[in-house]
Amino acid sequence: MNLFDVYPLNDIEIVKASGSTVWDEKGQEYLDLYGGHAVISIGHTHPHYVKRLTEQLAKVGFYSNSVKIPLQVQLSEKLGQVSGKTDYQLFLCNSGAEANENALKLASFYNGRKKIVAFKGAFHGRTSLAVSATDNPKIIAPVNETTNIDFLPFNDEEALKEYFNQNGQDVAAVIIEGIQGVGGIQEASKSFLQLIRSLCDQYNAVYIADSVQCGYGRTGLFYSHDYAGVQADIYTMAKGMGNGFPVAGISIAPKFKPWHGMLGTTFGGNHLACAAALSVLEIMEQDNLMENAAEIGEYLIQELRKIEGVKEVRGRGLMIGIDLPAELSQVKKNLLFQHHIFTGEAKPNVIRLLPALNLSKAQADQFLDKFKIAIKG
Ligand SMILES: Cc1ncc(COP(=O)(O)O)c(C=O)c1O
Repeated sequence: MNLFDVYPLNDIEIVKASGSTVWDEKGQEYLDLYGGHAVISIGHTHPHYVKRLTEQLAKVGFYSNSVKIPLQVQLSEKLGQVSGKTDYQLFLCNSGAEANENALKLASFYNGRKKIVAFKGAFHGRTSLAVSATDNPKIIAPVNETTNIDFLPFNDEEALKEYFNQNGQDVAAVIIEGIQGVGGIQEASKSFLQLIRSLCDQYNAVYIADSVQCGYGRTGLFYSHDYAGVQADIYTMAKGMGNGFPVAGISIAPKFKPWHGMLGTTFGGNHLACAAALSVLEIMEQDNLMENAAEIGEYLIQELRKIEGVKEVRGRGLMIGIDLPAELSQVKKNLLFQHHIFTGEAKPNVIRLLPALNLSKAQADQFLDKFKIAIKG
């Protein structure tokens, strides 16, 4: 049996990892500024994480949502406290797409409507509704085509007002990333998020903050939407939540009332997933990782902006996009194969930095030194 070949692969096998360092099978060391796509939040193989998961595995790894799982209650309390949304409710699932899928369903259950507003450049996942709300026709299968989703231009306040003027009574939800990741590190403006909040209030539509990539402390705030000083109705989260263990969730405002059977999942919120998520929050709090993300991120952004040849540097905290001109399309590959630094990318030519939130200043400097060489070719 062969693997279903959907991923273009780098010819590298990672066999060991610690903090922001990984090693391949030949013993070559790499600096990891990609974090396996924004997933590694507290660093690879963090001792507290390994201990908590190992101890939990030895006790009980999984039981279904048909019994009480006190770890879920501990997680919801801790998440409420660290995110500052103590009165919200937590539903646990397994991936970012599933989180968005559930958020969109919940919105539609809530107000009984069908129209979803999404934005140009958005990525919300690959399952049914999530992929329909993703601005990439190539990955939308015919069965996922729907007239229920409308894509509006990102950060265009007039277009949004006009749309609500015409269709406001039909809108179930507006879904938006605080910072578009796949879209190339494009930040939603404060006033745009504030306008979404006020239009959703006016028309009883649901504001869904897709925080799968930009959330969980990455920008120095727990949710990047916090920057606008508004509260979303539902926050979706995944990637950094389990530091590599598949766990995701939605944080749901008090106005949503659950009923038995409304949402569900077999694996969501299992014992191991909760142990992973709890250990991430414990480390984030104990080691002040949000502060570190803000500080090191700001340093990187300022230093990158000084480098000649860079078109634009965008982002916040440790979610950074380095926009390069077309002639520098080889920089990402050179960083990996010549300088042994993992980074992410976005089309057409943006290098995405999504490192662990405890990246040190020395590691940031190491990257900057190598990047300056790589950009010279
Ligand atoms: C903003 C955003 N939403 C949703 C998803 C989907 O997450 P998953 O791949 O865990 O389903 C992603 C994944 O990259 C993402 O960046």
